[in-house]
Amino acid sequence: MPQIARTVPALRRALDPFRRKQQTIALVPTMGALHAGHIELVRQACRRARRVVVSIFVNPTQFAPHEDFGTYPRTFRADLKALAPFKVDVVFAPNAAVMYPPGFATRIAPEGAALAGLEDKYRPHFFGGVATVVTKLFTQCRPDIALFGQKDYQQLRVVTQMAKDLDLGVKVIGVPTVREKDGLAMSSRNVYLSPEQRASAPTLYRVLRNSARRIKAGDAIAAVLEDGRAEIARAGFALDYLEARHAETLAPVATVKDGPIRLLVAAKIGTTRLIDNLGV
Ligand code: PAJ
Repeated sequence: MPQIARTVPALRRALDPFRRKQQTIALVPTMGALHAGHIELVRQACRRARRVVVSIFVNPTQFAPHEDFGTYPRTFRADLKALAPFKVDVVFAPNAAVMYPPGFATRIAPEGAALAGLEDKYRPHFFGGVATVVTKLFTQCRPDIALFGQKDYQQLRVVTQMAKDLDLGVKVIGVPTVREKDGLAMSSRNVYLSPEQRASAPTLYRVLRNSARRIKAGDAIAAVLEDGRAEIARAGFALDYLEARHAETLAPVATVKDGPIRLLVAAKIGTTRLIDNLGV
C-alpha cells in the first residue's frame, strides 16, 4: 500500500529516503476520480521511474465560480483501490488549506500556448490555476519526471513550456489518450452524461479522425473544419471550437506545410463540456 501524505512535510519525509538513495521519482498529478486514463499514466510512471508519487487534489484555483468544483467527483477510497495493483510509493492528498494557506498571494501566469484562444478563451481562469498548482506540486515533490495526458493537450503544452521556462528540473512526459471502445476519450466528467448524451459523445473523436484523414489526403483545412463543426452540431453539441493548430506552439495553421498539425475540439452536450484532440 502506498503511504498517504497529507502535508508537505509528510511528503518530504516520505520522499527523502528515496532521494538520498538517488532513486528516480515520477509524479502523476491528478484530481482523483481515477479512470483508465489516469491509470495508464501511473503504469507508465512505474515503468519509467523507481519511485512513483500520485497526487490527488481537486484544485480550486483552476475552476471558475460557475464551473463544477463543488460537484466534481471525489472518490478517494475507490482511487486508492484503483492504485493498489501498481507499485505507487506515495499518494499525496493535501487539502485546500495545505495548498493555499491563508494569505496565499502568488499566481503563475503562463503565456504562449496558454493564450492560444482554445481552452483559455472559454476558461480564462484555467491555465493560471493549473500552472500555479503544478508548480507547487513540482517544487513540493521535486520529481525527475512528471506524466501528463495528451487528452488535455493545451495543458500538456503549457506545463511542458513552464517546466522549461522556470528551470523546474522536471522532464514532462505526454501520454497518449486512453479511450472507451467507441472512441470517447476517458474523462472524470463522462459520469455526468445521460445514456442519450453518452451515445452521441463519440462524435467528437469520429470527427477528429475523419478530419485528420481528409487533411492528410490534401483537402483544404478550412473546408474540413467547417464540415466537422456542422457534424458536431448535428449530434446535439454546442461547439466551443474545432481548430487545426501547430502541434507545439498551438498557433493557427493555414496548410499542412505549417504543421505538424494537431486538431483540437471542445463542445458541450447538455451541461457537460467535453474536449478531445488528435494529431494529423
Ligand atoms: P485530471 O483531469 O484528474 O487529469 C490528470 C491527468 O490525467 C492529466 O494529465 C490528464 O491529461 C490525464 N488524463 C485524463 N484523461 C485521460 C485519458 N483519457 N487518457 C490519458 N490521460 C488522461 O488534468 C488535471 O487533472 C489537472 O488539471 C491537474 C494537472 C492535476 C492540475 O490540477
